[in-house]
Amino acid sequence: MHELKISTDLPKPELYAQLEQELRSLVAGEPDLIANLANVSALLFHSLPDLNWAGFYLLRNGELVVGPFQGKPACVRIALGKGVCGTAAAQRSTVIVADVHEFPGHIACDSASNSEVVVPLIREGQLLGVLDIDSPQFGRFDAEDQEGLERLVSTLIQESAASADPAPL
Ligand code: SME
Repeated sequence: MHELKISTDLPKPELYAQLEQELRSLVAGEPDLIANLANVSALLFHSLPDLNWAGFYLLRNGELVVGPFQGKPACVRIALGKGVCGTAAAQRSTVIVADVHEFPGHIACDSASNSEVVVPLIREGQLLGVLDIDSPQFGRFDAEDQEGLERLVSTLIQESAASADPAPL
């Protein structure tokens, strides 16, 4: 069993630095990417304060399909360019939404969500999917979250590339 030892009330830079260490130890030597995404979604959901959903959408045949996550059941398929997830995927850049009710085309999966951050997963120039995190708190995510999450995603992709998994994702 993996014991989570992260203090969730740390300042964000320290919290993300600890999360990176945890992520590395969780995925080290494990070639199964779905297993790693499942554990990373659990790590984030239980370590970052004030979340109601954390998980992955994966690019499958040109659309995003829900992958491993923690939270309430979610919409299964999101077209590129649609919602916050599809927008971040199409732009290939992180999108932070302080108030999802103000975001045109936001896809509401859990009525508890009020703010959201979506970070694309890109490996060697190819879009693999997105990390999506929702909060009931308005304005929950800022530039420190963006920096921390982008670093975590980059580590996850690097570690996965270093694994022996022959599947693209
Ligand atoms: N709100 C997202 C949909 C996914 S759920 O939040 C889990 C969006 O607008 O793309």
